[in-house]
Amino acid sequence: MSDFTSNFWSVFISGITLVGILGCLALLWISGKTKAMTDSDNTTGHVWDGDLREMNNPLPRWWVGLFIITCVFSLVYLYLYPGLGTYGGSLKWTQTDQFDKEVARGNEQVAPIYAAFAGKSTEELAKDPQAMAIGDRLFMNNCAQCHGSDARGSKGFPNLTDKQWNWGGMPEQIHTTIVKGRTGMMTPMGAAVGSSDDVRNLANYVLSLSNSPHDSVRANLGRAKFVACAACHGPDGKGNQALGAPNLTTGVFTHGPGVESHIVTMINDGKTGVMPAWESKFTPEQMNVLTAYVWGRGGGVPAPTAAAPAAAATPAADAASVAVDNGTVKFYFASGKSDVASGADKALADIVAGVKEGKMAVVSGFVDSTGNAAQNEELAKQRAFAVRDQLKALGVAEDKIELKKPENLDAGAGAQARRVEVRLS
Ligand code: HEC
Ligand code: HEC
Repeated sequence: MSDFTSNFWSVFISGITLVGILGCLALLWISGKTKAMTDSDNTTGHVWDGDLREMNNPLPRWWVGLFIITCVFSLVYLYLYPGLGTYGGSLKWTQTDQFDKEVARGNEQVAPIYAAFAGKSTEELAKDPQAMAIGDRLFMNNCAQCHGSDARGSKGFPNLTDKQWNWGGMPEQIHTTIVKGRTGMMTPMGAAVGSSDDVRNLANYVLSLSNSPHDSVRANLGRAKFVACAACHGPDGKGNQALGAPNLTTGVFTHGPGVESHIVTMINDGKTGVMPAWESKFTPEQMNVLTAYVWGRGGGVPAPTAAAPAAAATPAADAASVAVDNGTVKFYFASGKSDVASGADKALADIVAGVKEGKMAVVSGFVDSTGNAAQNEELAKQRAFAVRDQLKALGVAEDKIELKKPENLDAGAGAQARRVEVRLS
């Protein structure tokens, strides 16, 4: 396909090419016709140094023959293959086709090897030495330049072997990260936080979350400013895998050391980290092997157990609802879901009015202790966020909303556990 809007250049280039070739042929023909100057004296008449004369012999036949073959070859070539402007050639050959065919042939050759891995879970693949050897090669060739040959990362590139994941360490999450790529974005927050002193105080509070060395006086002063960060890093700083916002309580910092100056820079400048997408580079089988390799490097988090999704299979009494009980608004959720029930606006009316009078809205979630604890906690968080967003949509300012850490209920509390409460304080 032509990148130009008209075919002028195509015609121009084709013309020059063809005229050039025909010109060569014409020149050969003309020079073959040239006769000697006179029948008796086959010289041009030029004489140097007294008796050095220039002969006027025709080109040797073999040489003319080769020249003609070259010209004919180029015409045939230009007919078969792309070369004349936008004309694609009668064989319809393209570089991309050839590349695709070679890749397909290569994949066909390795297909039997991958067939042996089909149907195996990430955990099983991670225990298969042959799969891990292939995973290692794929990683070295494609990932090591950023994440290091030991997968331990470096400044700006996350360590994949620790248990800290910005985007999640369960097989499914790692798979999505590799297939689709990830972009983590923290906007510059300095102006939102306040003066440079405020930023330093907040930085010390952030360090205190992981017990990294910090100034505790400053940390206490900075605590209140963390609301600006909670939207992404969570009210308790434990991060949010949906946004790739890191857990700030672990003491692991990818972008620099755990010291005040680094955190201050992060707050003032923000950061965007891009993990490229690999969808088009690997076959689905290679993707599974690579996922298992990364998962098996030591940081992997087990897939959710069968117990957790089992709850989702019982739709009875599983619809979202909302109730007002003695001034406390109770939101109940469908299992596995964080959609707020309809009617929330009406139920929240008293809370909204209370906030207008200067009170705080306290949002607290509850988790059921059956199933996967980390997953339950994440869900409880998402539900609390959904309710918070509902309040914000009703005009409640974010700093008037206090998010409480989810409380644990006993196992089997079922629908009771899937709730978020809002009250005034
Ligand atoms: C060009 C550099 C680059 C290459 C190549 C690269 N990555 Fe990444 N990767 C990153 C960056 C940067 C991030 C962090 C993204 C962010 O800021 O959230 C990341 C994040 C990740 C994460 C998520 C970590 C977490 O904490 O959740 C995984 C998993 C990952 N990469 C695996 C791979 C694999 C497997 C490959 C090879 C197929 C690969 N990466 C190749 C730059 C790269
Ligand atoms: C819009 C969402 C968002 C907000 C708001 C936000 N962050 Fe972040 N933050 C992120 C993301 C995403 C990253 C990871 C960036 C990356 O690696 O690509 C990050 C990274 C960081 C890091 C670096 C961690 C490391 O591994 O080195 C620190 C420290 C941090 N944030 C502190 C804060 C503080 C303090 C605030 C409040 C002033 C804040 N963030 C507000 C999303 C946010």
